[in-house]
Amino acid sequence: MDREIFDNWAEDFDASVEKEETFPFAGYRKVQDMVKWMVSIEEGTKILDLGVGTGLGVAELYEQGAEVTGLDFSPGMLEKAKAKMPRARLINHDFSKSFPPSELAGEKFDYIIISYALHHLPDWKKVDFLGNLKGFLNPGGRIIVADIAFSDRKTMQKARKISGERWDQNEYYPIIDDLAFSLEQQGFSLTFFQVSFCAGILQLRQ
Ligand SMILES: C[S@@+](CC[C@H](N)C(=O)[O-])C[C@H]1O[C@@H](n2cnc3c(N)ncnc32)[C@H](O)[C@@H]1O
Repeated sequence: MDREIFDNWAEDFDASVEKEETFPFAGYRKVQDMVKWMVSIEEGTKILDLGVGTGLGVAELYEQGAEVTGLDFSPGMLEKAKAKMPRARLINHDFSKSFPPSELAGEKFDYIIISYALHHLPDWKKVDFLGNLKGFLNPGGRIIVADIAFSDRKTMQKARKISGERWDQNEYYPIIDDLAFSLEQQGFSLTFFQVSFCAGILQLRQ
């Protein structure tokens, strides 16, 4: 998707995803609640949110005291995130073109969250991208991918049927069965939870 589409969406984004009961955001609120439950905030806990959007997902963790760095290529989305998280470090960068941006060189995080943004990368890029993120984790750190995602192809086909014309053929929804071997080869151990018929959370640990 183009950056401009996200810029134009920024104003309505929160309202449009919170109330969604159909594809692609069915389960969005439950997904965010589960992510919050998976993250434990102590003093100085550092979170990197890639594709942070308006900050709707991560803002509660910020309010609990997490040091949040958010990255996004949409200035419109970042403006909304700034309003919710004035002290957060926000970086305007396209992660599909290069990673890391210079601001993140040498940085380490306790959690890296990618919520409804990884599906913009094709599978081969996803694996390299996630593998590269290992270098940005503190010991014991975790990557949490919340997205339109499926445990296997059969579940994905079912969701595709339910979604009808709303399904977007130009996006690359993670199918865990297809990614697991390559991610394990990268040294990750994986846990996946299917949260709604079209949303799931993948947790990666080293
Ligand atoms: C559907 S929104 C999700 C926002 C937020 N993570 C959430 O869960 O509410 C996807 C976000 O990813 C950002 N995004 C998509 N592709 C990106 C890229 N290549 N580099 C940086 N940000 C990207 C978009 O601008 C948008 O803000």
